[in-house]
Amino acid sequence: MLKEFKKHCDSTSLSAVCTQLTELSNQAFCVNNGNIPKWQSALDDVQNTQPGKLSFKPPYIAIDTKADVSGLTRSLKKLMPWRKGPYQIGALQLNSEWRGDMKWDRVKNHLRPLNGKTVLDVGCGNGYFTYLMSLAGAKIALGVEPFLLFNYQFQAIRSLIKEPIKAFVLPLKLEQLPAQPLFDTVFSMGVLYHQKDHKLHLQQLMDVMKNDAELVLETLIIDQQHGDQIIPEDRYARMRNVWRLPSTNTLQSWLEAAGFKHIKLVDVTKTTPEEQRATHWIGDNTQSIKDFLDPENNNLTIEGLPAPKRAIFICQK
Ligand SMILES: C[S@@+](CC[C@H](N)C(=O)[O-])C[C@H]1O[C@@H](n2cnc3c(N)ncnc32)[C@H](O)[C@@H]1O
Repeated sequence: MLKEFKKHCDSTSLSAVCTQLTELSNQAFCVNNGNIPKWQSALDDVQNTQPGKLSFKPPYIAIDTKADVSGLTRSLKKLMPWRKGPYQIGALQLNSEWRGDMKWDRVKNHLRPLNGKTVLDVGCGNGYFTYLMSLAGAKIALGVEPFLLFNYQFQAIRSLIKEPIKAFVLPLKLEQLPAQPLFDTVFSMGVLYHQKDHKLHLQQLMDVMKNDAELVLETLIIDQQHGDQIIPEDRYARMRNVWRLPSTNTLQSWLEAAGFKHIKLVDVTKTTPEEQRATHWIGDNTQSIKDFLDPENNNLTIEGLPAPKRAIFICQK
């Protein structure tokens, strides 16, 4: 995939940084991780499957192939947990924990067209949205995702697709990208609250955007009645690394302070058990949103904080 990335990159605004990104990615794949032989064997298995055409058949990213369902299920289950999706590969429905199509539905109508654009998907997971960005016509849709398993998931799905595809995922963090104006549209979805330094994250997003480029920022927020922001003392909805939950006004002021303009709040949605659910593709730990909320009051998390609600802001550099 890295070779293909390099080849495709040469015809885009990423050509000057392509070698650097490929080298960093090679290093990231070379870590000593005991799971890699299992993940690699999943990749080797699926590479024997007849590839098919990619399309979006909501809720599924679909690959039209006559693959053997039980063999494919066995191989792809080696890559659990599947948080992001869902995917349909031939007759196999890979129902991930999240219904990504529901988020895409809230985002897609507010964007400048992605056709012909150089697009970055920060913290892209296994690339569900990165595929959608490329299906929407991006010249190149680059996802960056430091968690190696999700890179293996992306590659497994990618190797099942027949035609050349303009979506790529590299095992990198945003902060490893050169601070240069490279992208026309940048997505940071579900990433800001995982950052210890939210201002730095916004600055790093700004740094990789071309002049007048568009940012799509999706993140957890709280209602103003709970104050300007909440800094969870310990966990939030059982997640360990949630640093800060701003109100939408506070988030707007962070974006202003970072220098973004034309800031628009386009959506606020509470996360429901329809969007985040336990499925048999998430492995042994079958807990999902229902287990993260107060059983007596689903407006509160199990820790007594406001239940997850997400906002989407769109703005320009
Ligand atoms: C909650 S998931 C969101 C996935 C997807 N974007 C979505 O909206 O569903 C957050 C992802 O961001 C990744 N991540 C966290 N910090 C990052 C950083 N500094 N650069 C790139 N990715 C990061 C995590 O590994 C994780 O997979």
